[in-house]
Amino acid sequence: LKTVEPLKLGSIYFDMFPGEIDPVWRNPCNDKRHMAIWSASKSCRRLPNFLVIGPQKTGTTALYDFLGIHPLLVSNYNSLTTYEEVQFFKGKNYYKGLDWYMKFYPDPGEDSNVMLFEKSANYFDSELVPSRAYALLPNAKLICTIIDPAKRAYSWYQHQRAHQEISALSYTFYEVVTAGDSATKELRDLRYRCLNPGHYAYHIENWLDHYNDEQMLIIDGEKLRLNPILVMDEVQRFLQVDPVIDYSTKLKYNPKKGFFCQVMGVNHTKCLGKEKGRLYPEMDTQSQLYLAHYYRKHNIALSKLLTSMGRPIPTWLKEQLTDQK
Ligand code: A3P
Repeated sequence: LKTVEPLKLGSIYFDMFPGEIDPVWRNPCNDKRHMAIWSASKSCRRLPNFLVIGPQKTGTTALYDFLGIHPLLVSNYNSLTTYEEVQFFKGKNYYKGLDWYMKFYPDPGEDSNVMLFEKSANYFDSELVPSRAYALLPNAKLICTIIDPAKRAYSWYQHQRAHQEISALSYTFYEVVTAGDSATKELRDLRYRCLNPGHYAYHIENWLDHYNDEQMLIIDGEKLRLNPILVMDEVQRFLQVDPVIDYSTKLKYNPKKGFFCQVMGVNHTKCLGKEKGRLYPEMDTQSQLYLAHYYRKHNIALSKLLTSMGRPIPTWLKEQLTDQK
């Protein structure tokens, strides 16, 4: 039998198994070896029961806001570095560890009906996040929202411009979406970030490689915008939260904002900030035609996937597919 000091042993081990360098966080309470060294003052209840995974620009903030109206649906504490989003499973935060993540959640206590959740809108299209999320939260429920991917791409582009992202300010939307192999890296990256999240079927299937169909609710973001009261009923049934509250007393259409907002008192509503529901010119016809063609195969795949899952086909998707027959 031969051995070496721990650091050397570690380095030999990771040379042999480089794929294991990346940590994978699992629920300590599901593993008796972890439980044996887990501090008595820590609780595995400080983890989300469900995740709102995005993608960005599909109404995720409205959904987050509306969920927060329910007294038993409690989101993470705000992150000082990423605004309200913790973004644990994507990027550098994952390396900050489980303790770091758990500190974003209160301990709901034993026998509590409280359901904790996280909304991080860019989880949806990440290759790594589904497996990481599943390793830690195999029983979690997932909610994603989808709108016409072309509309999403345009809203995202407008969002980048509003945030003064130089590359988005430098190119028209048409230049971004049609950028080819000879374009600068900056422009190709922008195109990728703009269009890739709209490959809905591909990303949903990545999640379903880990989670069951029944664990995922797919919301039509257009329906959320136009009839959030119905959608919030559906969401509550999916989450099996008890009691179910009546959102018709909580949400009201605000004609000035042009969206549903939270009822705060008689004749008073609180809407999302000016970042959400921006005013911008309509998408130009050339880009509309280009994107209708670009997203066609992705939309067909989505329609097949939703049918196979026994889920309704959103009106915008039916329209997209019949328009181009
Ligand atoms: P626009 O600003 O392009 O209109 P997200 O929160 O995921 O970034 O999505 C933002 C989009 O949510 C907005 O895009 C807006 O159309 C949509 N939305 C849906 N319901 C809304 C609501 N009640 N208030 C504001 N925006 C809402």
